Amino acid sequence: MPAVDKDIRVIKAERPPERFARGWHCLGIADAYRDGKAHSFDAFGTRLAIFADSTGKLNVVDGYCPHMGADLGEGVIKGDTLACPFHGWQWGGDGKCKAIPYAGRVPPRARIKSWPTMEENKQLFVWHDAEGNQPQPEVAIPKIEECFTGEWSDWIWETVKIDTNCRELIDNVSDMAHFYYVHGARATYFKNTFEKHVARQEMRGKPRADLKVAGDNMDFGGSEVTIDELYSVATYYGPSYMIDYLSSIVNGMQVEAYLINCHVPIDQNSFTLHVGLMVKKLPFLDDEMNAQIAQMYAKGNRDGFFQDVAIWKSKTRIDNPLLCEADGPIYQLRRWYEQFYVDVADIEPDMVDRFEVEMDLTKSNEMWVADEAANKAAQQAAE
Ligand code: FES
Ligand SMILES: [Fe+2]
Repeated sequence: MPAVDKDIRVIKAERPPERFARGWHCLGIADAYRDGKAHSFDAFGTRLAIFADSTGKLNVVDGYCPHMGADLGEGVIKGDTLACPFHGWQWGGDGKCKAIPYAGRVPPRARIKSWPTMEENKQLFVWHDAEGNQPQPEVAIPKIEECFTGEWSDWIWETVKIDTNCRELIDNVSDMAHFYYVHGARATYFKNTFEKHVARQEMRGKPRADLKVAGDNMDFGGSEVTIDELYSVATYYGPSYMIDYLSSIVNGMQVEAYLINCHVPIDQNSFTLHVGLMVKKLPFLDDEMNAQIAQMYAKGNRDGFFQDVAIWKSKTRIDNPLLCEADGPIYQLRRWYEQFYVDVADIEPDMVDRFEVEMDLTKSNEMWVADEAANKAAQQAAE
């Protein structure tokens, strides 16, 4: 057997935790569930059923009927109850069986789990907690005031299943360098702040000069547009719901947007990703033009996500990333993220204490600017 070379770095990776994160998880646009139908949603290693009662209140209950195991999301809404498609047992939003249409009496233990829910920003959320505790008010999803004014577009919402563990998505919060290589943007300012259940990334950037990136020189209503100056404040509230305020200068004009990046774990190796975007309407443009801008932005962001997805598809899980001085605080971020996977009693101070770092990107930018220039020169020589 060859001797082990101790100087060679070995990647370590344990299996992802069996437990799912404690916190509010977004199930999508609330009104989409008010269509008079029952819905299924695979989450947390099980299946949920979602239905609106006669008042419009959305209920989330266990998705499998304990009578004989049918999928309640395939059932029908009857008054304030969800009737199972198999034998018609009717379940209330509180999880209690209200009626069995062919029996005089409901067994006293006929009860399923009613999951805590909240609505905010026109979206529906479900609370997951392996310990079974109720959500505390301080971790409620914050309101985006702009979403309730007419000055912004509606949410442009998209849902995709991604086949990897959701920690890959979280790592993005601290991964400064990948913006250059994956997303075609050079970070000129980068700051992380973690505290309690909140993790924030503040970034300024410029599109790479040597690439045609989303939005750069894009055909836009018949005229060429150039995006320079990107500004983004992306904040996770809990383990899965990120609000990203985005501002960019497009042809000298400020365009503002909110991006929601949120996910619900399906199992240890897959999650449902939701991407929502709304854009501030430009007052001198008509609704149609504003809608076009919103769609263009949404497409750019969607493309951005799939740049990450392409990496996740082929990468391996790594618990011991080998970092350099110009990398962001991946280990501290992962420590912050661990708070959602342990019992509340086991949360350690270093998971929730304030941690703040503003990176010095002087050297990185010098090197990237030179890289862009060299690439451009090579492109021109080849033309
Ligand atoms: S399986 Fe649901 S009523 Fe029988
Ligand atoms: Fe990314």
